[in-house]
Amino acid sequence: MIQTKTYNKEILKTITAGLEQQPKRLPSWLFYDEIGDKIFQAIMRMPTYYLTACEFDIFRNQKDRILNHIMSDEGSFKLVELGAGDGTKTEVLLDHFLKKQTPFTYVPVDVSEAVLAQLATRLSKSLPDLKIHPECKLYNEALEIMKNDTSEKKLILFLGANIGNFSKDEAITFIKKLAVNMNAPDRLLIGFDLKKDPRLIQAAYDDPEGITREFNLNLLGRINREFGGQFDLELFSHYPFYDPETGVTKSFLVSNQEQEVWIDAIEKSIHFDKAEIIHTEVSQKYDLKMINLLSAQSGLEIVDVIYDQKEYFADVVLKLKD
Ligand code: AVI
Repeated sequence: MIQTKTYNKEILKTITAGLEQQPKRLPSWLFYDEIGDKIFQAIMRMPTYYLTACEFDIFRNQKDRILNHIMSDEGSFKLVELGAGDGTKTEVLLDHFLKKQTPFTYVPVDVSEAVLAQLATRLSKSLPDLKIHPECKLYNEALEIMKNDTSEKKLILFLGANIGNFSKDEAITFIKKLAVNMNAPDRLLIGFDLKKDPRLIQAAYDDPEGITREFNLNLLGRINREFGGQFDLELFSHYPFYDPETGVTKSFLVSNQEQEVWIDAIEKSIHFDKAEIIHTEVSQKYDLKMINLLSAQSGLEIVDVIYDQKEYFADVVLKLKD
C-alpha cells in the first residue's frame, strides 16, 4: 500500500510562496517548532543575547512600579500574557504579586497547547497559590473574550521584544488590534529592545557559539522534517545584519553555492543561485521617539517607560488615549 504523508497545508502555502518570491523570504514564526523552541531557550541564556537579562533586571528591580499601574484598593485583575512561552521572567512578577497578597488571575495565552500545559504544571509546583487560567488561542481571540468582561481590569503583557519581529507597519496594526479589545482601566506593557552600540546588537544575533546560526538554519531543518525537504544545512550560512540608521536587524540564510533543493510536499525543486539569500527575520530596535510615534499611531498613550539599569531595554506601559 502506498502511504501518503499529510502536510500542514497552511504552513506549506507560506513556505512555497516564500521560496518562490524574489528575493526569497520566510516568516520568522516558522522558527518555533519543538526544536526551535529549545534553541531559543538556549539563545535566551547566551551572555551576548542581553535582551532577556535586561527584562529580568526590570522585573526584579521594578516589580512594585509595575504592580502599581494596575493595582487599586478594590477588585482583582487579570494578568494576561500574550505568547507566554516558558514564563520564566513572568514568574518573578507572579511570585511578587502573590507575596503582596494582590488578588489576580494569571492568563497565559499561547497557540501551543503543549507549552501551556508545561507552564501550568511548573507553576502549580513553584507557586501553588496562583490562580491560573491558560487560554490556548490566538492573541486576538483571547482578548476579544475578555473585552466584554469588565468586572476585572487587565494588565496585558507582550514581552521579550517580540514586537520587534513585526515591521513598523505590522506593529501598528497589531497594537491597534490589541487596543480595540482594551477598556479604559486596562494597561498594556510592551517590551522594546532599544537602539544601542551597533556592535552589541550585531553580537546578539551573531554569537560566537553559533547558537543563533543553528536557530536560523533550523528553519530549513523544519522544512526537511515536516515537508520532505532535502536541504543540506552545511550548504547554507547564517548572516545577520544590523543597520543603525533604521534600527533594523535582518537575518538571512545565504546559499553557499548554486543548488537545486527538492521538496517532497510540493513535488519540485527550488533553485538557488550562489550567494542567493532567504530573508528569515526582522528584529526592529526602537528609540523613544519611535515608541511615541508607534503608540500615537495605534491609539494609545504612554503611561510609563521602565528601563533596565544599562538602559538597553524598556518595558513601556500604555493605556487607551483619553
Ligand atoms: C523572539 N524574538 C524577540 C527574538 C529576537 O530577538 O528577534 C528572536 C531571535 N532571533 C534571533 N535571536 C533571537
